[in-house]
Amino acid sequence: MKIALLGYGTVGRGVDEIISARVPQVQVARILELPDRLTGPRMTSSYEEILDDEKIELVVECMGGVEPARTYIMAALAAGKHVVTSNKAVVAAHFEEFARAAQAAGVGLYIEASVGGGIPWIAGIEKARRIDEVTSFSGIMNGTTNYIVDAMRRQGAEFDDVLAEAQRLGYAERDPSADIDGIDVANKTIISASVAFDVACEKDLPVTGIRNLTKADLDLFAKRGRTVKLLGRGTCRDGRYAVAVEPVAVGEDSLEACVPGNFNLVTLDATTVGELRFYGQGAGSLPTGNAIVQDVLDCATGARRPTYDFSRELTYDPTLLRADYV
Ligand code: HSE
Repeated sequence: MKIALLGYGTVGRGVDEIISARVPQVQVARILELPDRLTGPRMTSSYEEILDDEKIELVVECMGGVEPARTYIMAALAAGKHVVTSNKAVVAAHFEEFARAAQAAGVGLYIEASVGGGIPWIAGIEKARRIDEVTSFSGIMNGTTNYIVDAMRRQGAEFDDVLAEAQRLGYAERDPSADIDGIDVANKTIISASVAFDVACEKDLPVTGIRNLTKADLDLFAKRGRTVKLLGRGTCRDGRYAVAVEPVAVGEDSLEACVPGNFNLVTLDATTVGELRFYGQGAGSLPTGNAIVQDVLDCATGARRPTYDFSRELTYDPTLLRADYV
């Protein structure tokens, strides 16, 4: 299968590296990049060239941000090309629109890499809901904030100092607001809930990040045998559902408390399978690249063609989830 990459940053390079080293049945034929970043014959800054190339059956969107990613994804679907994306912002904002367009065009929409990096979380939810109702999920979905809270706890340091150190080491972005204010987790929570509960998830959910978390807070919780983790959560029962992102107090002996910086732990509960937990690297070039290549292979082999149904009649009721700590 010939594919195109839209974007050649950290994730795009990881995809290219994995495919060239390990996946001979797939060829990265074209790469869309900015005009001043064209470094080889596969690269182009013309998206029309990719859309018009009938041999390219699938595009991998790993540009990030809502626009032009949304326009490019919709154009690819309309041109009859499968789409794989790692872009949580655009999927959270336009999931239903993409799913309907993919269905109308008879092509696949694959979003595994948009939540949890290399962890097969979306496929895990899809598999659970083939048989079960997913009744709740919860997760550490952001490595940057997990690293910061972990370091505050271990070093007894204040938020600003740890953030500055995380930025110096390259763990946190220069503009870290999407991570520390919970926006990245909110996007991942919206996507997870949409898949888990078969709804067009409410986008105006309660979101609290970790910006105001202090060393004194962590010390107080430590005295009670607890620590704090930023969790994305969803629950669904009796025809109602809720989603929220907030710092939550967890027992120091819980699995969540043991998750080291930059790793993710996501959990779901479903009717007959019960509790399922998924742990791994939630970011990074190769783990996220791996999730994308898994989606590409699922599409190329026909092994998996996700369908998303947003038609379940559920009432959004934020009171179903109450914060343990904000
Ligand atoms: N900024 C995200 C994180 C990257 O820290 O987990 C993966 O979505």
